[in-house]
Amino acid sequence: MIRNATVHDVPRISEIINSHAEMGRMLFKSYQQLYEGLRDFAVFEENGKVLGCVALTIIWADLAEVRSLAVDRKAQGRGIGRQLVEWAICEARRLHIRKVMSLTYEQKFFEKMGFHVVNKDSLPLKVWSDCVACPKRDDCDEIAMLMTLDDVPEVKMPTARPVSRGRLFPIITDD
Ligand SMILES: CC(C)(COP(=O)(O)OP(=O)(O)OC[C@H]1O[C@@H](n2cnc3c(N)ncnc32)[C@H](O)[C@@H]1OP(=O)(O)O)[C@@H](O)C(=O)NCCC(=O)NCCS
Repeated sequence: MIRNATVHDVPRISEIINSHAEMGRMLFKSYQQLYEGLRDFAVFEENGKVLGCVALTIIWADLAEVRSLAVDRKAQGRGIGRQLVEWAICEARRLHIRKVMSLTYEQKFFEKMGFHVVNKDSLPLKVWSDCVACPKRDDCDEIAMLMTLDDVPEVKMPTARPVSRGRLFPIITDD
């Protein structure tokens, strides 16, 4: 069963992700990062035990990122990773987000899921905001992969505008 994660899942999510991180297969996540991002997370649970997790993080109006995909080593090869990615794709579709990306070492797995390799330079700068704290930031060897959901219509892209300081906003009162 796949369900949204709760705070009770954080220790187990941390255990699964960081056991792979210790082997250099993904990035470490602290408890602080997991609690802050918990609303993005879903877990795969079987007989009361969490065996895998995934997060879908919104980057922009037309882009979301699959993050922190991890399956307990003892449960790999049973289709759990596929189901977690499918959950993330459904979630993107629910949010009307047309493109889903991942930064990964698991190129073949993501190709099976329908993603293809893209040039990292084609991704918006916002994707790299987390890299500031990454030890590999100057020598990133992750592969950028993308999937476009053709059934989700393209949206007119809002452009980010800086909010000028000291700008006045009307205040509505009961008077
Ligand atoms: C990558 C990972 C999530 C795959 O999860 P999984 O549950 O073992 O994968 P599944 O059983 O759902 O596999 C789905 C398909 O992908 C294939 N596959 C899985 N891992 C693969 C790999 N490393 N290389 C090639 N194919 C792979 C499976 O054979 C299966 O193919 P099929 O549908 O033709 O039978 C899991 O191995 C994992 O947790 N890895 C460590 C963490 C990691 O690298 N996460 C990705 C970070 S973005």
